[in-house]
Amino acid sequence: MPKVTTHRKAHFNAAHRLYNNKWTDAKNVAVFGKCANPNYHGHNYDLIVSVTGEINAETGFVIDIKILKELIKIEIEDYFDHKNLNKEIPEFKTLNPTAENISIVIWNKLRLKMNTKLDLKITLYETARNFVTYSGK
Ligand code: NI
Repeated sequence: MPKVTTHRKAHFNAAHRLYNNKWTDAKNVAVFGKCANPNYHGHNYDLIVSVTGEINAETGFVIDIKILKELIKIEIEDYFDHKNLNKEIPEFKTLNPTAENISIVIWNKLRLKMNTKLDLKITLYETARNFVTYSGK
């Protein structure tokens, strides 16, 4: 059976600070630059959720995009939007909220709610030019 990938775009704004508390402030600034600012800064995150699977013979869908849209809204947008990731999102209490780590948190949250027959890939843009992908490996 052919496999098709369905993509859904989403968006959230969030603040963060990149910081390793085992390092000196100087080293944090050297590695993370302006992202180490103690007063936090924001990003407009663009997200693409990609779901790959066989087409359901009855619906013609890989996944019902209405269901995917609602899942992303509840699990990701409502959870992250207008939040301070370091302070308000439990996953980042001890995990640096880089785009890489955010993509893994997003993947883990969606994976729990989706049919295991479907493959899931996350593409997360932190800026228009900087983005990461994660597909669970
Ligand atoms: Ni940043």
